[in-house]
Amino acid sequence: MKVGIFGSGMVGQTIGSRVAVLGHAVMMGTRNPAKLQEWLGKVAGKARVGSLADAAAHGEILFNATNGNGSLEALALAGEANLNGKILVDISNPLDFSHGMPPVLFVSNSDSLGEQIQRAYPKVKLIKTLNTVTASLMVNPRQLADGDHHIFVSGNDVDAKLYVVDLLKTWFGWKNILDLGDITTARGTEMYLPIWLRMWGALGTGLFNIKIVK
Ligand SMILES: NC(=O)c1ccc[n+]([C@@H]2O[C@H](COP(=O)([O-])OP(=O)(O)OC[C@H]3O[C@@H](n4cnc5c(N)ncnc54)[C@H](OP(=O)(O)O)[C@@H]3O)[C@@H](O)[C@H]2O)c1
Repeated sequence: MKVGIFGSGMVGQTIGSRVAVLGHAVMMGTRNPAKLQEWLGKVAGKARVGSLADAAAHGEILFNATNGNGSLEALALAGEANLNGKILVDISNPLDFSHGMPPVLFVSNSDSLGEQIQRAYPKVKLIKTLNTVTASLMVNPRQLADGDHHIFVSGNDVDAKLYVVDLLKTWFGWKNILDLGDITTARGTEMYLPIWLRMWGALGTGLFNIKIVK
């Protein structure tokens, strides 16, 4: 499958490496391709780097791994025509570091970054997921408790959500996936970040997750 990934940070590189190893045609989209030269060496020719528009045009499925502050700008550079009709797996969080640590959320309660993106691109099938765990867990959940912990999905398009649930299982190894509902439920997973950050501080590692028990 052709996969386009927006963002050259830890998340983009981690998703890109995993998907490339699986044999898919990965194109990373960045404003600055030079940033990814070292990473390209690590994936040994199994992926390509281009502009955000190149990655968007290339991908049959797209991942948004850009900084939340820059996500709408990144998607504008990707180009609406290149996005329309496609599944966009949105991993971004609306973190504002401008007041120091810990960051605050720049959108919350009655709105979310996921909804802002979905409103800006109504023809995109936006599925919010993976934003509640650290990058290495996204693609390798079984490194903790044999994968017996939870990830969430939110999105309006039911078929697209089922498709992404299948990818989470088959590409990354997730076992426990909780469908929270439509894209408004992204408010919940984005607002989980303040407690995630406090747990990170208390535990001294980002390598943890939660398990839902009833
Ligand atoms: N790090 C984690 O473990 C983790 C876990 C869960 C969720 N997340 C979320 O996943 C996203 C990516 O996180 P990250 O840690 O990999 O990287 P990041 O440092 O948050 O930034 C990733 C990328 O965002 C792009 N970007 C920033 N401002 C932009 C703008 N104005 N226009 C276009 N692109 C812009 C940059 O792309 P260029 O290459 O073009 O400079 C950069 O490579 C974030 O939203 C983060 O909150 C991260």
